[in-house]
Amino acid sequence: PVAARIRFKILMLAYKAKHGVAPSYLTALITPLRDSDIFGVTYPKSGTIWLQQILILIEAKGDLTATKDENNATRVSWIEVIGGEKKFLLEPSPRLRITHLPYSLLPAGLKQKKGKVIYVARNPKDVLVSFYHFHDFGVFLETPKDFNDFFEKFMDGQVFGSSWFEHIKAYHTHRDEMNFLYITYEEMIQDLTDLEIDNVVEHSRFDSMRHNNKANYRTVSDQILNHKKGTFLRKGSVGDWKNHFTVAQSEHFDKVFKEEMKDIPLFFSWDIT
Ligand code: A3P
Repeated sequence: PVAARIRFKILMLAYKAKHGVAPSYLTALITPLRDSDIFGVTYPKSGTIWLQQILILIEAKGDLTATKDENNATRVSWIEVIGGEKKFLLEPSPRLRITHLPYSLLPAGLKQKKGKVIYVARNPKDVLVSFYHFHDFGVFLETPKDFNDFFEKFMDGQVFGSSWFEHIKAYHTHRDEMNFLYITYEEMIQDLTDLEIDNVVEHSRFDSMRHNNKANYRTVSDQILNHKKGTFLRKGSVGDWKNHFTVAQSEHFDKVFKEEMKDIPLFFSWDIT
């Protein structure tokens, strides 16, 4: 639509004026989104690459080889980098993207609860320090005269990515407009170690719980549960109803289900039939 294109042009010019670069990929702003799209949003140095890695690994169900054949930035690419639009349009779901863009330049669909936003924030003092070192490391960034010089620039928002304060305030203010998950770097670092995560997975498996009397109600008295007749963790499978329902029962159930649930949007991951 013409109005959207004009708005897009204005936003592009505004972005260029503020940041000194023109990210042509801002066309994502007018690209229709899908519910399955996930956009990681960060202010620079807040844990972006870490979030990219986590998103890739979740999508790959923890298969590390998924992270080895392509760079993070290819698998979870930047929406502000030139040339990704075609890939974005054609990519199968879930499309994972990352951005430092301020709220005002976020794809419009995200602001209408299409897709999901994961915003990672970090203690801004640590952000400032990390960013300071990155200005030395990043050839494309101006090397600061000294720490104090960079400190002043950061406080004034005169750095790449603009003001940390404005970035987080805008996202926070508009968080209810989006499917929005807010998480901090500090919370992520507190998370479990690899071994602990493995243990959680292992000890919540059906077989582990079935054999763990503290987790399976085995110690509940025989007056309440007849342990001779069964176990609380009975079978733990999907679709066991097919071993019990007659066709007539299933059809009857479907009819009642359809009637009872007609006003509830179907958000279940299973198919009733
Ligand atoms: P430091 O410079 O303080 O070490 P970004 O990806 O947003 O640019 O952020 C980079 C910062 O995140 C760097 O901080 C980097 O070390 C840190 N980081 C990246 N991956 C991390 C991880 N797996 N665990 C903890 N910190 C991580």
